[in-house]
Amino acid sequence: MSISQLSITHLRNIASLKLALSPQINLFYGGNGSGKTSILEAVHLLSLARSFRTTKHKHYIQHQQPDTVLFSRINAGHSGQLPVGFQRRQDGNLKIRIGGESIDSLATLAELLPIQLINSDTFLLLEGSPAVRRQFIDWGGFHLQPQFLSAWKAVRRALQQRNSLLKHGKLQASLRATWDHEFIARSLELDSYRQAYLDLLIPCFERLLQQLLELDELSLHYQCGWDKKRGLDTVLEQSFERDRNLGFTHQGPQRADLKVKLRGMMAADLLSRGQQKLVVCALKVAQGYLLRQQTERSCVYLIDDLPAELDRQHRQRLCRLLEQLNSQILVTSTERDAFSDCWSADVEVRDFAIHDGALAQ
Ligand SMILES: Nc1ncnc2c1ncn2[C@@H]1O[C@H](COP(=O)(O)OP(=O)(O)O)[C@@H](O)[C@H]1O
Ligand SMILES: [Mg+2]
Repeated sequence: MSISQLSITHLRNIASLKLALSPQINLFYGGNGSGKTSILEAVHLLSLARSFRTTKHKHYIQHQQPDTVLFSRINAGHSGQLPVGFQRRQDGNLKIRIGGESIDSLATLAELLPIQLINSDTFLLLEGSPAVRRQFIDWGGFHLQPQFLSAWKAVRRALQQRNSLLKHGKLQASLRATWDHEFIARSLELDSYRQAYLDLLIPCFERLLQQLLELDELSLHYQCGWDKKRGLDTVLEQSFERDRNLGFTHQGPQRADLKVKLRGMMAADLLSRGQQKLVVCALKVAQGYLLRQQTERSCVYLIDDLPAELDRQHRQRLCRLLEQLNSQILVTSTERDAFSDCWSADVEVRDFAIHDGALAQ
């Protein structure tokens, strides 16, 4: 999947911008506040209908304008070229059209244009809460396993219901097993998808990381969210009093995590900022690599301020890795020179100088 044309109207400081993108590397450079990150934000909105910078649409719609309108042409593999349109109005109204048809399900959109974002928040994969890492695993489940989404939704529904009953003191011990039947069955299913995805991802990540950094003892550890030896049924039974006293379910797939460790300790506590960046990049590149290998689809990479934290040698190594992905990549940087000797000669690199929300003359 790649975007051939991108048109942005009334997004932050961008009044109107039309871009013809390279299917490989696209570099946006310009000073602070010129609008580089807003271009990545536009692609994010076109894939997920939400921004990575704010939860409020009023923040990204250009001041004093009625709406943000985005349009793109997506090369969607077998389906050929598809026009995708996005409009978000000040009153919150959202319209998305794919191939001229309005769509209601955001999952359809996310499936059409898988994206990977790498920005300063990506460090949260190492130092943030387990929820960030669950989201990381579940990206893979969603894009690689057709039944994943229905299992994920079923677990969420069953868990909400269970927690609500616990909170209101309506879950009786004698009925617990009956209530938990669905939650347990679907949780085991969700866990099996996560486990299967990580069985593929972890070796791929380790291989890619070796190309970026010499860190032999770095390892990933999946935790399913409960004590597997006892089994979820027994765990729920044994923690029932505690769950009832506190009004929520303590263990289950909602507590899953993926620990990144170095010599048995949390990697985030030991690695330098630059090393952390390379580790999270390897994690994200591994996801794109697997997507292509397993489904012959590819994702678009949005990389905000790629050079930050990296010396020239590691910058070059990362660019090599990104090229090998054979995916469309949109990169921002304040300096054009930061990449002068980073890309191979046979890669199509398109440069865009951005100034005041427009292409610089
Ligand atoms: N809703 C908005 N309307 C108009 N301008 C905005 C809005 N939100 C942010 N801006 C401005 O748009 C510019 C966009 O910045 P950004 O894309 O983050 O730039 P860069 O990534 O190049 O540093 C900033 O100057 C910011 O002040
Ligand atoms: Mg920026």
